Amino acid sequence: MTAPGWRRERFALPDGVVYLDGNSLGALPRAVPARLGEVVEREWGTGLIGSWNRVPGGAPGSGWIDLVGRCAALLAPLLGVDAADVHVGESTSQSLFATTVAGARQRPGRRVLVVDRTTFPTDAYVITSVARLLGLEVRWCAGPGDDGGLTAVAAALDEDVALVSLTHVDFRTGAMFDLPAVTALVHEAGALMQWDLCHSTGAVPVDLADAGADLAVGCTYKYLNAGPGSPAYAWVAPHLQADLDPPVAGWMGHAAPFAMRLDHEPSPGVGRLRVGTPPVLALSALEAALTAFEGVTTAGLRAASLQLTDRFLDRVDALRERFPAEQIEVVTPREQPRRGSQVSFRHRHAYGLVQALIDRGVVGDFRDPDIARFGFAPLYTTLADVDRATEVLAEVLASRAYADPAYAVRNPVT
Ligand SMILES: Cc1ncc(COP(=O)(O)O)c(C=O)c1O
Repeated sequence: MTAPGWRRERFALPDGVVYLDGNSLGALPRAVPARLGEVVEREWGTGLIGSWNRVPGGAPGSGWIDLVGRCAALLAPLLGVDAADVHVGESTSQSLFATTVAGARQRPGRRVLVVDRTTFPTDAYVITSVARLLGLEVRWCAGPGDDGGLTAVAAALDEDVALVSLTHVDFRTGAMFDLPAVTALVHEAGALMQWDLCHSTGAVPVDLADAGADLAVGCTYKYLNAGPGSPAYAWVAPHLQADLDPPVAGWMGHAAPFAMRLDHEPSPGVGRLRVGTPPVLALSALEAALTAFEGVTTAGLRAASLQLTDRFLDRVDALRERFPAEQIEVVTPREQPRRGSQVSFRHRHAYGLVQALIDRGVVGDFRDPDIARFGFAPLYTTLADVDRATEVLAEVLASRAYADPAYAVRNPVT
């Protein structure tokens, strides 16, 4: 059994801080600054343009042109897929746009894209813009609910649906769709299934290949700890790759980019999702960050994550009994299979409550209008962190520090 936080020494967390916001921005892995220094000073500074190629006997790790594939190889076990089916390098929103267009084009004659109402807003905007571009319609479905989303998705399906795009774990509540069961349901209707795994990968097993999913995207700056704005990944099932027709054909997605021809011959497989020059510094940070997952299984991550969320839920329940007037309403499902790796609750002063916790060294975050949200990154969050966080929460509730007028004006990034 893996104890929560068993890789904590690999992260540079500030002393005295309980960090429960790794579902927004992961903590800094110690391997990253050293690797970035090496890439900047030795590979860029000394190796100059030669570092694009793998220089025999040269700086280990150069060969920047292979970075996308190296990152894909480290990500693949966390997704339950083959590395050859993973592209890394754009933002989540851009990846989602590319995979949604490419997916919809594989179901000609079907006019509807389904998206969940509980999704992160960028998914709604992207799916809507794809619909506008391709002359399709958007159909909304409800979130995961009590049955992992089966009722919600079934109600949205018919023979017009080309693709269903869902966010696996709800960023507000932590409620989780039943990924294999929903994928099977969508396939029964002849549509393609796409998953947004931003709040899953690195904490929750997804096993995309076993589930028979078609497309997936996800970011790397949350539970994968690759830093602010780090590149996202896109996964395409092998059966869709031969005819994959993404919206942007860039030179890096060409079968022979350095032949510099004017006609575009798409790279085989997911390589055609590449657009321009890969972000070498960001990919180098990602490659270094993912070393923290070496030897880690997704089952181990999940077991540790559930210990953390179970303990936090128990402690919050005790506080609800102690402070009934606070009317804390837990919105994260109690059943383990229904929740991701976060716990959220409603409180009428949620913004002030989260700020008061931060001022006392417990970092969670706030989601409009009244949600306090706490993420549990299984590699570096410990049970002692949970205990400390809930002790501080008790102090904030007892003192009503959340009502401090200093918290009346919100930060621009909440
Ligand atoms: C579920 C989900 N999808 C997409 C995004 C946005 O991704 P990006 O800013 O990388 O495009 C986020 C950001 O937090 C998210 O939580």
